[in-house]
Amino acid sequence: MSERIDPALPKAELHLHLEGAAPPAFIRGLAKEKSIDIAGIFDEHGGYAYRDFWHFLEVYEAACTTLQTPEDFRRLTLAVLEDRAADGVVYAETFVSPDFCGGGDLVAWREYLQAITEAADEAERTMGITLKGIVTPIRHFGPEKSRPIAQCAAETKGHFITGFGIAGDEKAFHPKDFTWAFDCAREAGLRLTAHAGEWGGAQSVRDALDHLKVERIGHGVQSIDDLALVDRLAEDGITLEVCPGSNVVLGVYPDFASHPIARLREREVKVTISTDDPPFFHTTLVKEYEELARVFGWTEEDFRAMNADAMRAAFCDAATRDRILKIIEGSA
Ligand code: ADE
Ligand code: ZN
Repeated sequence: MSERIDPALPKAELHLHLEGAAPPAFIRGLAKEKSIDIAGIFDEHGGYAYRDFWHFLEVYEAACTTLQTPEDFRRLTLAVLEDRAADGVVYAETFVSPDFCGGGDLVAWREYLQAITEAADEAERTMGITLKGIVTPIRHFGPEKSRPIAQCAAETKGHFITGFGIAGDEKAFHPKDFTWAFDCAREAGLRLTAHAGEWGGAQSVRDALDHLKVERIGHGVQSIDDLALVDRLAEDGITLEVCPGSNVVLGVYPDFASHPIARLREREVKVTISTDDPPFFHTTLVKEYEELARVFGWTEEDFRAMNADAMRAAFCDAATRDRILKIIEGSA
């Protein structure tokens, strides 16, 4: 019998795409308001419908066509944070992309960002959840587009924008094509992460570490196929933003039992737990914890330790980190 995990256990979530966390009903509502026909992206139950990862990216981008104004993003951010707060999340980081907020235009980006930040501040006051933003170019949109995105990130680094990453199709281009963007973000003082080792094999994780010099990896689970790399991750304290339910639904692993998260943790890699794009994968952080507890026998103590590790790797200031750590460790 696995231990029951209190759904209200305070949680930190490091890997969450803002648009990917949009409830389907929210996107349908926007489509109706704007008379946009995206009926084809939903199944008969009203959920998002896609065949595989690459089709998922297309459906994701179709859903994003309904998000057209800063006000849309303000409402989206509030809806997303309401769902996270209901899951016990007290600290989250979200990927935000100027690609979907004005197409990399700095003036437009500032307006979108202000709306997202206002919503995050409101949620902190009313729901007790803190949100930080990681600017991410979309890899398959190409290296050229990543440059103005990095400049948007560098220009708006501050209280909310604290990190820079890259999402999208890992098989498109090579990490070294994005060194300009990552160098620009690093020079601006942003903290760095990159999606790798979800689809691109262990080598893609090595490439992200070597060329982009990131301190965290989004997913990174395929590192398990290269034990020397696993040792490197453990020794260098590279934190993995692991999203088990996402990997299972997208078919990276057939089920939780085959997922390498427990093996990575046993080899002392810092693993943290996130949902990626929760409505797309029919998941919540509470469901992820329940499934991990059932399959691997993990207890509240295990989750508390992983949440503390998440906060030690969080892209936030020391005061925020220490405040949230106290909540997670049960002393606040
Ligand atoms: N964008 C949204 N979700 C993603 C994922 N799981 N991998 C890469 N890019 C993404
Ligand atoms: Zn992701």
